[in-house]
Amino acid sequence: MASISIIGLGNMAKVLGARAAAGGNAVEFVGRDAGKASALARTVGGGSASVSMDAAPSGDLVILAVPWESAVPVVQQHGTALDGKIIIDITNTFDLGDYGGRHVPADTSVAQQIAEVAAETAQVFKAFNTIFGTVFSRNEQVDAFFAGNDGRAKEEVAAFIKSLGLRPVYAGPLVMARALEEAGLLVMGLGRWGEKNYEFSLAVRKRSDAGV
Ligand SMILES: NC(=O)c1ccc[n+]([C@@H]2O[C@H](COP(=O)([O-])OP(=O)(O)OC[C@H]3O[C@@H](n4cnc5c(N)ncnc54)[C@H](OP(=O)(O)O)[C@@H]3O)[C@@H](O)[C@H]2O)c1
Repeated sequence: MASISIIGLGNMAKVLGARAAAGGNAVEFVGRDAGKASALARTVGGGSASVSMDAAPSGDLVILAVPWESAVPVVQQHGTALDGKIIIDITNTFDLGDYGGRHVPADTSVAQQIAEVAAETAQVFKAFNTIFGTVFSRNEQVDAFFAGNDGRAKEEVAAFIKSLGLRPVYAGPLVMARALEEAGLLVMGLGRWGEKNYEFSLAVRKRSDAGV
């Protein structure tokens, strides 16, 4: 099991933190409001801890559960404290007002922008942005798409996803974070106009005769 720092104290921090703690990971919440952070750690339980934004995150995996526009500034704020860490970006970048396109240029993604400012020794991944918080909170096994460069860190991220009771589905190197960010917009559109609810998730369904 892994040690996890979750930066942000909102909906996704709570549901991710709860599943991570239940999965046997050491969870630390990192937030701007120390009282809110410790209250969240108490609510989630499972031995979870909290620290303020001034402290260096202690987890080997650092999850950015903040709005997309805060992701790069948060990584810059923590500077060398993130050296050697696995950074997991869960952000979606679209505008909920008009469901317009992503707020980053088409040839990049928030995750790639994070990689540009993070230490060379940090490994950046995109994950969880296609799963609604409501789905997360039900503790069911759903597909969790993730993207990031191949290697040992990829295996650690996959193991962490499994520890949450989810099925890791690798979408490719970090350049594929663009596709996952578009997929985040896709699930919102499906929820609003097609399914007319937010109680579903994207999945890979293999052909029964595929033989793989
Ligand atoms: N909700 C979903 O279903 C869902 C699903 C997939 C992905 N996402 C993505 O997950 C991310 C978090 O979503 P959410 O629903 O958890 O949002 P949320 O409930 O609004 O929580 C956002 C948290 O980010 C913190 N924050 C914002 N700027 C910060 C900064 N500069 N430094 C430190 N903390 C900062 C806020 O801190 P304060 O508490 O101090 O205000 C708040 O605790 C978003 O990028 C969203 O697109 C959400």
